[in-house]
Amino acid sequence: MIIAIDGPAASGKGTIAKRVAAHYGFKHLDSGLLYRGVGFAVLSAGKLNDPAAAVAAAQGYDPGRFAEDDLKSDAVAQAASIVAAIPQVREALIALQHDFARWKPGVVIDGRDIGTVIAPQAEVKIFVTATPEERARRRILELRGRGESVDDAGVLADIKARDARDSSRAVAPLRQAEDAVLLDTTHLDIPSAVRAAIDIVEAVRAGRRSA
Ligand code: C5P
Repeated sequence: MIIAIDGPAASGKGTIAKRVAAHYGFKHLDSGLLYRGVGFAVLSAGKLNDPAAAVAAAQGYDPGRFAEDDLKSDAVAQAASIVAAIPQVREALIALQHDFARWKPGVVIDGRDIGTVIAPQAEVKIFVTATPEERARRRILELRGRGESVDDAGVLADIKARDARDSSRAVAPLRQAEDAVLLDTTHLDIPSAVRAAIDIVEAVRAGRRSA
C-alpha cells in the first residue's frame, strides 16, 4: 500500500507521514530530503545557479551521503526549491522514489508531487495544508528551539517565496491531486493532526471515501 502525503513547507506533512508510517509499520520516505541533498551539494560547491551542476548532483545521488542535520537549514530549503524546478533533476530522482514505493507491506512518502506524479496510483492521498502565518509560526519555534536567531518576517517571506516557486514551476508543481483528501492542520496540534490522517487512511481503506 502507498500512502502519499503532499503539502507546502511546514504544513506538518513530514511529522504526520513519519507517525502514520510508524502506526502501520510501513517505511517512510521524506522526498524533500532528496531535493535538499541536491540543493546542499550545489550550495556547498558555490554552484547554486548552475543547472548542470544540480543535474550532475541528482544523477549521482547517494542517499547515505548527507547528514540530515546539514539539510535542515532555510538556506538549503531555498536551494532545494530552486534545483527542484529543473526537469532533469526531478527526472534523475524518480527511479529512487519508485524503488522505494515497492516496499511491502507499505510505504508513506511525503513531498509535493507524490500523489500527482511519483505515485498517482497511491491508494491513499492526503494533501496537508495550513495558513502561511501558522506555518511560519511553527518554523520560527523550531529554529528558536535549535538556538538559531530568527527574523520572524523573514521566515514568513521565505515560506511564501518557496510556496510561490513550488506552485508555479512548469514541472510537477505543488498541487492537490483530484483524489486527495484535504487535511488543514492550522488549528490542530500534532496528535490531532496524526489522528485525523489515520482516520482518513481508515476511511479510504474501508471504502467509505473514494481514493
Ligand atoms: O519538504 P521539504 O521542505 O523538505 O522540501 C524542500 C523543497 O524540495 C521544496 O520546497 C520543494 O521545492 C522540493 N520538493 C519537491 N518535490 C518533492 C519534495 C520536495 O519539489 N516531492
